[in-house]
Amino acid sequence: MPQVRRVPAREPRQDLAGSSAKRCPVQLRGAWGTLLSDGRTDGRSDRPPYRPTVRPSSPSDRPTIVIALARKYRPKRFADLLVQDHVATALRGAVARGRVGHGYLLTGPRGTGKTTAARILAMALNCERRAPAEGEPCGECPSCSRVWSGATNLDVVEIDAASNRGVDDARDLRERAMYAASQEGRFKVYIVDEAHMLTREAWNALLKILEEPPQRVVFVFATTEPQKIAATAAPVLSRLQRFDFRRIGPAAIRARLREVLELEGLSGEEDALALIARYADGGMRDGLSVLDQCLSFGEGPITAAAVRQVLGLISDEQYAETLRAVAERDTGAVFPLIDALVNSGADLVEFMGGTADLLRALLMVETGAEPEGLTETLRQSIERTRGKLQASDVVRMLSLLSEAEAAIRRSSSARLVVETLLLRWTLMDRVEELERVIRQADRRTDGQSDRTAGRSESRTADPNSPSVRPSVRPSALTLESLRAAWPDIVAAARDRSPLLGQALEAATPVSAGQGAVRLSAPHEQAVLVEGLRKQLGVIDDLIGAFFGGQVKVQVALEPAEGAPKRMTNDDLRAERLAGLRKRDPALDAAANELDLEIVDDSPRSPSP
Ligand SMILES: Nc1ncnc2c1ncn2[C@@H]1O[C@H](COP(=O)(O)OP(=O)(O)OP(=O)(O)O)[C@@H](O)[C@H]1O
Ligand SMILES: [Mg+2]
Ligand SMILES: [Zn+2]
Repeated sequence: MPQVRRVPAREPRQDLAGSSAKRCPVQLRGAWGTLLSDGRTDGRSDRPPYRPTVRPSSPSDRPTIVIALARKYRPKRFADLLVQDHVATALRGAVARGRVGHGYLLTGPRGTGKTTAARILAMALNCERRAPAEGEPCGECPSCSRVWSGATNLDVVEIDAASNRGVDDARDLRERAMYAASQEGRFKVYIVDEAHMLTREAWNALLKILEEPPQRVVFVFATTEPQKIAATAAPVLSRLQRFDFRRIGPAAIRARLREVLELEGLSGEEDALALIARYADGGMRDGLSVLDQCLSFGEGPITAAAVRQVLGLISDEQYAETLRAVAERDTGAVFPLIDALVNSGADLVEFMGGTADLLRALLMVETGAEPEGLTETLRQSIERTRGKLQASDVVRMLSLLSEAEAAIRRSSSARLVVETLLLRWTLMDRVEELERVIRQADRRTDGQSDRTAGRSESRTADPNSPSVRPSVRPSALTLESLRAAWPDIVAAARDRSPLLGQALEAATPVSAGQGAVRLSAPHEQAVLVEGLRKQLGVIDDLIGAFFGGQVKVQVALEPAEGAPKRMTNDDLRAERLAGLRKRDPALDAAANELDLEIVDDSPRSPSP
């Protein structure tokens, strides 16, 4: 009888190299054994050595070798398949009505139930106790048990495409598929996992089978990467019924972990489960695997601290401290914070990712939504931050963060990138506004179009703001017409940048004509005027747009009343800066460190 070669007679493939389990980031202890508390082994030779795991709750003193939780709690009925109701309902209905197709494609992220669903379908088709109009397998009969555990089976064949890719395998498969199922009334089910690994030749061979499918043969292909199949085997795809599996949300993962713990007679902190759920990132297998590892880690209930240790996670307290420092603009807290992270061996990329998650959660809370999967510590931290950061601030912080994430890959010092990021966040009010204005001014003078400005443009541009608002029809530039248009010009400037608007508002046109404009501002507004001078190009364009021509703008400062001598701008600037730095030592340090420009936007200048 033709053999499908190298079909592994081992189970479950998920736990062995070559299957998707290799992508599980967690080294499993205690994942290999199976049902051995009575001292039996299943005698197979091609599995890795047993690694006994002692469960603290084990009633006997004898070490108990346990089945991996992910395997032990693999659903046995469609009804038990979490989150994938759309798949479960369709497949259950097809079985009940006797209208099962010849080919299915199950796609979706890892650990979401594809292999499980394929096995339940195979169980349902061959269940010895299933009533005729019923779509669910019993899950208990010998046939169901064999399929469920992935044991060798004449009628249900699991193939790992990762190690059986070639045309020979497909030919074997084709020949073998011609044989009917082992008994009258049974189905032959081929479950091809990692199907995107099949070669084009293998797909061609399969296509021939699917074009004239033998009676009672069902192919189920499972893959995390359907687009690869589309590239190599589009004609096959059109002959398969496709089901897309969904990521499993943190709430569902957490609930399932809680359920599994209860079934095991164990307990765990809510925060611990929330952490695992977050880490599992949509995959139930990873969630259960981490739970497994935490169980072998120590006695008693699973604590958040244990989970963190197992996963090497940065503590929630550190994230909470980050959020606090940023919300309170506590620049001085940045260096100690990064020090502590680096000293504890934290992965700074992970830190950025975790901080991004936290900011997103904050944004959700601020906008009235309910973020999933937060630990109690983080929930409280967000609660304390509420109202201190504007949603628009958080959005800007996130875009700075995504820039930093890109930068960290190019930079030789992750630490410097993260430090700079946190400093910019804590100094954001004071720095960001000016930077943005300067960038725009630079762009103008470079003659670059807004569209070519790329990334930095997309993060600073306010999608609602018109670039220039020519609400006045071009007319001749005179002092009168300029004064008349002034409120509109100020509004257009404000659209571009609130600070620029504020600065222009403080100035008054004192002369205009022949392409030249002079503005004047009171002595107390020296700082704003300094800002204006940096953006003269922008202001030129702005006023020019209103009068349909080229304009050159000058800004003058009115002398202070009774001032003994007329100070130069440099004097003013130096004096101002010295004052600012004296009031805020952290700002001073940061300005030195980063070569930052300090603007004093007076209404919200830092409190001493
Ligand atoms: N939808 C689900 N409901 C309940 N448990 C699930 C679900 N999805 C996965 N699991 C759990 O995760 C384990 C692994 O699931 P399964 O092997 O079906 O994932 P998969 O989608 O085939 O993943 P991969 O792409 O990595 O092969 C199952 O044994 C089960 O314990
Ligand atoms: Mg699978
Ligand atoms: Zn059964």
